[in-house]
Amino acid sequence: MADIFANYHSIIIFLHVISAVIWVGGMITMRFAVHYSLLQLEPPLRLERTSHALKNLFKIVTPFVIILLITALIMAIAMGLHHTDLKSTVFVKEAIWSIMSINLVIMIFRRNRAQKYIDIGEYAKAKPLLGLIGSVMVPVNITLGVIAIFLGATLS
Ligand code: HEM
Repeated sequence: MADIFANYHSIIIFLHVISAVIWVGGMITMRFAVHYSLLQLEPPLRLERTSHALKNLFKIVTPFVIILLITALIMAIAMGLHHTDLKSTVFVKEAIWSIMSINLVIMIFRRNRAQKYIDIGEYAKAKPLLGLIGSVMVPVNITLGVIAIFLGATLS
């Protein structure tokens, strides 16, 4: 593992950082740019477009969530971070990644259920499923992601 990190140092850090940029940046764009634009639409169309935009976002970020973890583990193991004074920071970052990933999986399930209701015209049932994603779940992941990026700066 130490060899892999030594040989591919720059590319591993690059992949880790770009994954964080795409995951956290994607959520910020969705919440603060796309979301307010979608609110201008009338309810049935708004729900359809919101569900479609979230589907695309989740499709884009999922591979980067995996790359983020793989590169994180390579770095942590290669640098022996679990056995240094930085182990608590590494543990917190691992916990943050886990919570963000579980949150993402729940969001994907909620959106898929909402899409089924949209497909049969049951918009009232789709609305709360998508609503919580925008009002709570995405903001929680943005906050955790920003904390993880700050902790990354303390590790670098
Ligand atoms: C899964 C647990 C994680 C571990 C073990 C971990 C580990 C690390 C390490 C060791 C560095 C320092 C790299 C260097 O030598 O420069 C780092 C940097 C970084 N991490 Fe993570 N990380 C984890 C999760 C995350 C998450 C969830 C995010 C954001 C969503 C993230 C974003 C960053 C960023 C942006 C940097 C670069 C900071 C800088 O260079 O100033 N990491 N991480």
